[in-house]
Amino acid sequence: MKRRLLTVMLGLAMMFTLAACDGAGNADPPEKQGTKTDTSETGGSNARNDSRSDVLVVVFSATGTTKRVAEKIAVQTGAGLKEIIPAAPYSSADLNYSDSGSRTSREQNDATARPAIAENISIEGYKIVYLGYPIWWGQAPRILSTFVESHDFSGVTVIPFCTSGSSDIGQSDDALAAQAGSGNWVQGKRFSGSVTECELKKWIDDTKPTETEGADMEKTLRLIINDTEVAVEWEKNESVDALTELVSAKDLTIQMSMYGGFEQVGSLGRSLPRNDVQTTTSAGDIMLYSGDKIVVFYGSNSWAYTRLGRITDQSAADMTRLLNNGNVTLKITYGG
Ligand SMILES: Cc1cc2nc3c(=O)[nH]c(=O)nc-3n(C[C@H](O)[C@H](O)[C@H](O)COP(=O)(O)O)c2cc1C
Repeated sequence: MKRRLLTVMLGLAMMFTLAACDGAGNADPPEKQGTKTDTSETGGSNARNDSRSDVLVVVFSATGTTKRVAEKIAVQTGAGLKEIIPAAPYSSADLNYSDSGSRTSREQNDATARPAIAENISIEGYKIVYLGYPIWWGQAPRILSTFVESHDFSGVTVIPFCTSGSSDIGQSDDALAAQAGSGNWVQGKRFSGSVTECELKKWIDDTKPTETEGADMEKTLRLIINDTEVAVEWEKNESVDALTELVSAKDLTIQMSMYGGFEQVGSLGRSLPRNDVQTTTSAGDIMLYSGDKIVVFYGSNSWAYTRLGRITDQSAADMTRLLNNGNVTLKITYGG
């Protein structure tokens, strides 16, 4: 009961603070705060902010700093909070970064290290996952790799955040997105342990996906050849689904090579499901070749390919102009 009262009081204190944030993430001066809290409606809606059961905060924290930030994010978004607990807890000796032989030094020096997690964390049913971690040697702790590689983030917007002594988030969020291989990962953000409620509120408001983004609606693969974006009618097959997952985790930039006087071909960097069929191609066809290469045609060839799509807004002459003038860069993004 006492605990409940404390929670309510804490909630009210939070509403008071949030009501006093300006648009730039600063707190108003105390006398202004007093005025604002009188309007309970402002405080209420700010505090509820994004109260949704499909939002989850997942955090790994070795010494409590990131967890404290995660708790504030959970309160502000109305989200649940789940903690990644290592099967083997990190002792102070393990966390000693001055010791090149400490457990964390060894793990961070080994890109393949995957420390076990004590208890599985389910993200099923969640559309938005805030993912928090401390920076260790400029990277996310390897246990985050264990976590992201063991979950399917399809249809989930992942919002990474971290705390550190001073380092920025760097490439740690991109590396996790690549390891996850699924989900819509947004640019992550580093906070100091003393981040204010107002700074967090501003960030939450700025990064909050719209309903459309959260539901992954209206979004499609977009194809850009050098600087020209072309309209594509994508196939509805498991190869395109896998390509969409890949690209929604991170934009793909592919260096293509001219080949045979009829195509440009480049590596996707990984294999997609394939269902090759003997095909005679024509200008504008986009094919999967050998499972891990994308081919865009400006002429005709007969081979066994899996069709990915077809460029619909360029004539055969346009395709020749685009592709028959030296190697091109192909960019595939996922957006509206
Ligand atoms: C093994 C280890 C490595 C660290 N490496 C960095 C670093 O590269 N850059 C940095 O700014 N802080 C570094 N720190 C400091 C932590 O990122 C910082 O204290 C963080 O807020 C701790 O979060 P936690 O309490 O949630 O574990 C490191 C800490 C440890 C234990």
